[in-house]
Amino acid sequence: MSHFNQPTLTENVLPEDNDFPVPALLDHHGPARVIAMCNQKGGVGKTTTTINLGAALAEYGRRVLVVDFDPQGAASVGLGINTLDMDVTIYNLLMSSRLDPHDAVCPTDLPGLDVLPANIDLSAAEVQLVNEVARESALQRVLRHLENEYDVILVDCQPSLGLLTVNALTASHGVIVPVAAEFFALRGVALLVETIETVRDRINPRLKMDGIVATMVDTRTLHSREVLDRLEEAFGDLVFTTRIARSVKFPDATVATEPITTYASKHAGAQAYRRLARELIARGDAA
Ligand SMILES: Nc1ncnc2c1ncn2[C@@H]1O[C@H](COP(=O)(O)OP(=O)(O)O)[C@@H](O)[C@H]1O
Ligand SMILES: [Mg+2]
Repeated sequence: MSHFNQPTLTENVLPEDNDFPVPALLDHHGPARVIAMCNQKGGVGKTTTTINLGAALAEYGRRVLVVDFDPQGAASVGLGINTLDMDVTIYNLLMSSRLDPHDAVCPTDLPGLDVLPANIDLSAAEVQLVNEVARESALQRVLRHLENEYDVILVDCQPSLGLLTVNALTASHGVIVPVAAEFFALRGVALLVETIETVRDRINPRLKMDGIVATMVDTRTLHSREVLDRLEEAFGDLVFTTRIARSVKFPDATVATEPITTYASKHAGAQAYRRLARELIARGDAA
């Protein structure tokens, strides 16, 4: 496939043909489809995609819960939640089934978008869970109490393939893998696909690879175009046709602790995440 004759970044990210329809509003909510945002590499756009796909789905009237499953807490902070002095976070819910998960859910400024926050406490969970019975399904037990109230639950994973990520994959129906067109490593994605297959075979037969989303795309560079070509060669239709272009507006929105969809609502980056939301719904991978 040739990527020449594509004059601007915006046109490339938002092809005018083959677009996806604005979804009809839902007449009831839940049960949620749980989707893990997963890549063992850091800095590929997991958290950015979780926040902005979640915000775009909420704009389309979906009830969305973002589960922050990274001790860095970036998804929580990025959605305006102060996690420092929080009494109950996802960590406490994983460790004690006596707590009501509703007590940890925080609303955001965006109607329909809630967060189950995390902070550095979560870094202890990996070690502590090892000795638990059914250690892979701790997150699934937590989400069971919440899934009837949401249409989509997005789990923002930490950059590892450890026990927390296995918990996310065990609790999920689908996986979305963000791949940064800049630092592409095909072998890394292959290892991740293997892990997903292992979890599917041994623990969670319903788990489905929903797709790979190319992030930080800059089609002006040969490298970025090569990465896109190789991704599509290797994974075909699994690659979302929606691509997320590189833009400084994303880190800007992070600093402003807002989704790009509200920080710069008309920006191509906001439009791209709305299109990703519509593509996900059109594929049948979200309500
Ligand atoms: N499309 C993009 N263009 C430019 N910068 C981006 C883009 N997506 C994410 N970023 C920035 O890259 C950094 C890493 O992204 P992040 O979503 O935190 O990755 P991960 O969660 O995989 O570690 C953040 O500073 C974020 O603001
Ligand atoms: Mg992250």
